[in-house]
Amino acid sequence: MSELIAEAKAPSNIALIKYMGKTESSGNRPANASLSLTLTALESFVEIRRAETWGWRPLDRDGFFAPELSEAGRNRFVAHAERVARALGKEGLRGEIRSANNFPPDCGLASSASSFAALTLAVAKACGVDVDPGAERAKLSRLSQQGSGSSCRSLYSPWAIWRDEGAQAVEGLPSLAELEHVVFVVSGDRKAVSSSEAHRRVVSSELFHGRVERAARRLDELLQALRSASSDVSAWNQAAEIVWAESWDMHALFETARPSFGYFVPGSILVLRELRQWEASRRPLVTMDAGPNVHAVFWRDADLELRLERLIQRLASIDPTIKIIRGLKR
Ligand code: PMV
Repeated sequence: MSELIAEAKAPSNIALIKYMGKTESSGNRPANASLSLTLTALESFVEIRRAETWGWRPLDRDGFFAPELSEAGRNRFVAHAERVARALGKEGLRGEIRSANNFPPDCGLASSASSFAALTLAVAKACGVDVDPGAERAKLSRLSQQGSGSSCRSLYSPWAIWRDEGAQAVEGLPSLAELEHVVFVVSGDRKAVSSSEAHRRVVSSELFHGRVERAARRLDELLQALRSASSDVSAWNQAAEIVWAESWDMHALFETARPSFGYFVPGSILVLRELRQWEASRRPLVTMDAGPNVHAVFWRDADLELRLERLIQRLASIDPTIKIIRGLKR
């Protein structure tokens, strides 16, 4: 096997205030600011091995899942590696990129954020850049944004905010120890409309008028609610309302775009209804990305596991194909 030049890993993230719509497609400039929770347990791994030309192949490691990349997907990945090397002054760098995820490819979880973030870090290491948090993070995050917008948030943990000037960590929000993240995988099908296409189409919706202002207002309100959430149950539940409305706002844009499109399947509705009826003093933060699967961020109360177990059993009795994946490392 050819010599290993660099390797890196990066986590995925789930947006609670969504990046949807771009002001410019080149460089992925977002129409509005977004806020995400980094999914520390869902990671992509990238190796760069010495080669004459840039190329890509799956990384073969025990327990890992090879991504399924179309030719366009491979080209986009390779082009990003070249762009990062050029930006870091190593235009002559070439390498074979190998990548894999620690979560299955057929579960409908977006892996582009984690894989582009991991690729950015791996190429930067190959260029001799210090990728440790702190050092060159802001620069690397901005470079990652050019490959996949949402990947720029994956370089910060546990919370990342991405404003026009770039992504950064947010302090003072609930800690990972206080939270549990679950994604209810109701379909593993490849999405018919990619997120790049979704960004292009949403601006054709009548509801896009006011969208940027709505997202900005929700972001302020959500940050305020989350800052008090550790000691204030009603602030946490306020956050749950905001996250719910934000998710529906984005999906309403999809459903009212011209031409319209959408990601809901019957399982999505089933899980949303169950989560709406969650009987605990702290309700989950529920959101869906550009896909049919439902993400929920729970407060880790003493009886959370028992309640989750009951919910999982009830869902399995209705639809045994629903899978549960936890997004935070313990
Ligand atoms: O980074 P992209 O182009 O895959 O866009 C991601 C868009 C959403 O996942 C729907 C929202 C977000 O902010 O992550």
